[in-house]
Amino acid sequence: MGNGAVRQMFRSFMTAALAIGVTAVFFSASFADEPGPIKALKVDPKKAELGKRLFFDVRLSGDAAISCASCHIPEKGFADGLPLSKAYPGSNHFRNTPTLINTGHKAVWFHDGRLGTNLNDVTREMITETYIMNTDMRLMQERIKQDPVYVKMFKDAEYGEPSNGSVRKAIPEYLKTLTSRGSPFDTGKMSDAARTGYELFKGKAGCIACHSGSRFTDDKPHNIGTPENPDIWSDPRRHVTFVTYAMFMGVENYMNIRRDPGANVQTHKSDGSDVGKFVTPTMRELKQTAPYMHNGMFKTLAEVVTFYNRGGGDDPNKDRLIRPLDLSTQEQSDLVAFLEALSGEALTGAEFVWQGKIDPNYKPISDWLNARN
Ligand code: HEC
Ligand code: HEC
Repeated sequence: MGNGAVRQMFRSFMTAALAIGVTAVFFSASFADEPGPIKALKVDPKKAELGKRLFFDVRLSGDAAISCASCHIPEKGFADGLPLSKAYPGSNHFRNTPTLINTGHKAVWFHDGRLGTNLNDVTREMITETYIMNTDMRLMQERIKQDPVYVKMFKDAEYGEPSNGSVRKAIPEYLKTLTSRGSPFDTGKMSDAARTGYELFKGKAGCIACHSGSRFTDDKPHNIGTPENPDIWSDPRRHVTFVTYAMFMGVENYMNIRRDPGANVQTHKSDGSDVGKFVTPTMRELKQTAPYMHNGMFKTLAEVVTFYNRGGGDDPNKDRLIRPLDLSTQEQSDLVAFLEALSGEALTGAEFVWQGKIDPNYKPISDWLNARN
């Protein structure tokens, strides 16, 4: 067995261990608060500033070609505008890149909810996963230690020497700065159409049953019958990523299935009743984050609302709340107006985007082995 294979096995073991630890929280806790502005989280400014530079630094990826911001693009609401993510160079992903706005407020992450510990673990997963950043943490740490700007920033942030452990703390600190603000819903400046839409959202259309709280999500998995995205199965560079994922998540028959198992990777229910469940996404910042769903199958909010109005997709395990709604054309467009009123300021200013050039042409540290830095 090659080194790579051993690493893969270890990683899969870790993922499985985490997943088991998490299942209990996953289905019981409800983190929903009241609809209203989302409270900003407390952050340590120096740690967040360091995390910001790391987020935009390509040296965190194995081949130094991509950074977190290659897929989580500030101008696209920290998503990427694609139906399915690109993945590490040479492969393609089988899921839609989620927004990172308000991710610090979440308690379960990924479309299938497979991580429910903390953002530190999510960050580790993103950095080391072969089809995301594909880096060995030790290599990344050595790269970072060579850069005098980092040496100073880690020290100023009271982390001491650059280390992979502090990278996994600093990036989450930065992510915690990404909180929605300034939406018409929060500022009380909704149009009449949006107000009517909100009443439908809470009443006749029944959306609030799952899209609840200030982020408009119950953080739980449900099956709404989203159709499969055929690109996952026709593009070998996506399929190989899917197979890698499904194999390590312990999905049976992973070579042959042509369905994203969704939350079934958590429960492994043998009757398959959790297949096709995905964690309810937030309704915040949707204007910035098209296309929609875990696999980008809908291009516009109008398409999504039409889908719900028809009673969702075709799936025997579909949630019973998803049924034909009988909304008029006017009501459907009011609902869209409301969804749009939940989008606020783009987080694209200096507060959120690293402004300096990240210059890799620093002087090598002489007598490296004996140097303290
Ligand atoms: C190659 C594209 C790509 C890169 C690079 C990338 N991500 Fe992601 N990220 C994704 C995709 C795709 C998902 C969803 C995966 C899933 O649901 O299975 C995701 C999910 C996440 C989530 C969970 C969001 C949620 O709401 O569940 C966080 C947090 C995150 N990424 C942070 C980061 C950080 C930090 C980095 C850099 C260290 C990074 N990502 C690099 C594509 C990428
Ligand atoms: C039974 C729970 C449930 C109900 C009720 C529900 N949703 Fe959803 N919603 C979900 C889930 C789960 C997803 C993600 C499905 C996926 O990724 O395939 C979703 C996805 C969405 C998305 C896409 C968001 C994105 O970022 O991809 C929109 C928009 C949306 N719902 C709006 C609505 C509206 C409007 C209503 C009412 C007509 C509604 N939902 C009712 C659970 C629900």
